[in-house]
Amino acid sequence: MEVDGAPARSCILHAGACAGAAIRTIEGFEADAVMAALREAFSAEHALQCGYCTPGMLVTARDIVLRLPEADEARVREELAGNLCRCTGYRGIVRAILGVLEARRAT
Ligand code: FES
Repeated sequence: MEVDGAPARSCILHAGACAGAAIRTIEGFEADAVMAALREAFSAEHALQCGYCTPGMLVTARDIVLRLPEADEARVREELAGNLCRCTGYRGIVRAILGVLEARRAT
């Protein structure tokens, strides 16, 4: 989820801290072009995991793409450090994000 335009960990965020904040969950990104590119890349790279971690991965991935257009693999992995999934090695997720970054740099 996003709180006031920045990724936030919904699992540790107290509801009271959200009073008056602009909240956007994964459903709020439906018309977002960057998120559309990431959804496509996650699908192509078999990076889609479960319904708990995938929305967070996608929101963080979008933040990486927009905030760090020159990010390399090490930086992408560092930025993903706050998104925990014990079920995957993150390889497909990292490939998907790097692919979107590369495609945007090529335009
Ligand atoms: Fe979602 Fe591991 S697949 S937490």
